[in-house]
Amino acid sequence: MQRPIGVFDSGYGGLTVLKEIVNKLPQYDYIYLGDNARAPYGNRSFETVYQYTLQCVEWFFRQGCSLVILACNTASAKALRTIQQKDLPKIAPGNRVLGVIRPTTEIIGQFSETGCVGILATTGTVASNSYPVEIEKFFPGLRVYQEACPMWVPLVENNEYQSHGADYFIKKNLHSLFEKGEKIDVVLLACTHYPLLKEKIGEYLPVGVKLLTQGEIVAASLADYLHRHPEIENRCSKNGERVFHTTDSTEDFDNHATVFFGEAIQSQHVDLEAPHKPPPPAGGEA
Ligand code: DGL
Repeated sequence: MQRPIGVFDSGYGGLTVLKEIVNKLPQYDYIYLGDNARAPYGNRSFETVYQYTLQCVEWFFRQGCSLVILACNTASAKALRTIQQKDLPKIAPGNRVLGVIRPTTEIIGQFSETGCVGILATTGTVASNSYPVEIEKFFPGLRVYQEACPMWVPLVENNEYQSHGADYFIKKNLHSLFEKGEKIDVVLLACTHYPLLKEKIGEYLPVGVKLLTQGEIVAASLADYLHRHPEIENRCSKNGERVFHTTDSTEDFDNHATVFFGEAIQSQHVDLEAPHKPPPPAGGEA
């Protein structure tokens, strides 16, 4: 059976990644799920992020998805490994769940001349230390400086990303990052919500520092993955359709999502606790 590719985020941020995936791979069908009712995940414990993410991954599997992308750094940092190693073999050994950290850490070193990179992320992603650990595997010796920006996701989720409040917190966090590593010449937005703050961040970055976002990197990596894994690719439906789900209000989701995704969206509400229904026939998503 062929089914859509699942794309997950705690809220709207994953839409910035889905947008680039759709640009690169428009032929596939996609189901997006934003767990808006429980967002943000960034300050939550490992156990909570893992439980929430697993519950959402299981929901995707019930929709028939064989491949799920965690388009959320916090979920990738705190839940992906356990889901891949412990849960998948038990619940769906043939299915795959991929994250956004690996594709980024595989190439980040290519952009730096000073050998110093900065990571801006949620408190949870920074605390997991996933970026320094993964980067060390691909670019040993690259110096990685991290800065947790706990106010940035709330600013974006609450539509305050163009306000003076946003300027205040962006300046504060960038100042703190560059105090730790003054030779940083590449800064990665390691949270899928942050691209909405990109313009403002650009205003406060020292001249010559490159600003990286993940959408295109993840899209290119997915294209490569599908090419190398025909057994998964063959199970992905290709009608160019996209459906959007949220665990919270569809009205709020549709209003915000248009900004993140760049086109009008009509989402459907999902109750993760609802009794399980079989997925609709392939290609039959409304
Ligand atoms: N968008 C998520 C990420 O990439 C974090 C948002 C949240 O804190 O829920 O880390």
